[in-house]
Amino acid sequence: MGTDWVWLISLRDLDADARAIQLGAIADMSLLPGQERFVGEPLRMALAGLADESRWPYMVESGGDAAGLLTLQAGAAGLAGWPDDWSAWLLRGFLIDSRHQGKGLGTRAAAAAVEAARKLTARHQSGESGVVLSVNEENPSGLAAYRRAGFIDAGRYLGGDAGPQRTMFHAFAPAGPS
Ligand SMILES: CC(C)(COP(=O)(O)OP(=O)(O)OC[C@H]1O[C@@H](n2cnc3c(N)ncnc32)[C@H](O)[C@@H]1OP(=O)(O)O)[C@@H](O)C(=O)NCCC(=O)NCCS
Repeated sequence: MGTDWVWLISLRDLDADARAIQLGAIADMSLLPGQERFVGEPLRMALAGLADESRWPYMVESGGDAAGLLTLQAGAAGLAGWPDDWSAWLLRGFLIDSRHQGKGLGTRAAAAAVEAARKLTARHQSGESGVVLSVNEENPSGLAAYRRAGFIDAGRYLGGDAGPQRTMFHAFAPAGPS
């Protein structure tokens, strides 16, 4: 696995000019053939994230490049087959630009998303205990990236319209000694 670090840039926390620049970079992102089965069009997902107050879209930056995108959503965990909506953040719309795939960035970004979610929970005192997602059983790189990032398989999920999925969960690390 590569050694490239990733940074998550919250699009919601940027001023209008900085956000416009990042949205331009996101519009330039592409997927490998066949991957559109697993995730929506990057710019559309970023704009949908900014238009919905329950969502926090992040640009994944690596080595100064706009390398990917992900969204954390509150109150929607049930969409990943979780037993309730509010006890976990939903990680959705996760992608690494085709030019940056296979270098370990997906694994690092998934781990960074858990840390970002933990900070959001602390900031809002909103009580989530971790991050949940659903990934298509026919998505080897997704399954591998999430496993490597420490997500645990929580069973099969047949909801949604893209075929059988795995529900995966990553708990927040218990707070250290105060
Ligand atoms: C899923 C995704 C984010 C992973 O990002 P990435 O940067 O390619 O992942 P990594 O480099 O960290 O690799 C993760 C694992 O996937 C494996 N992998 C990467 N590309 C692969 C491919 N095309 N086929 C099979 N395995 C692949 C890597 O070998 C690695 O496994 P390993 O560490 O056990 O060797 C990226 O492939 C992607 O954007 N796919 C399209 C959108 C998508 O599927 N999103 C997830 C929806 S739930």
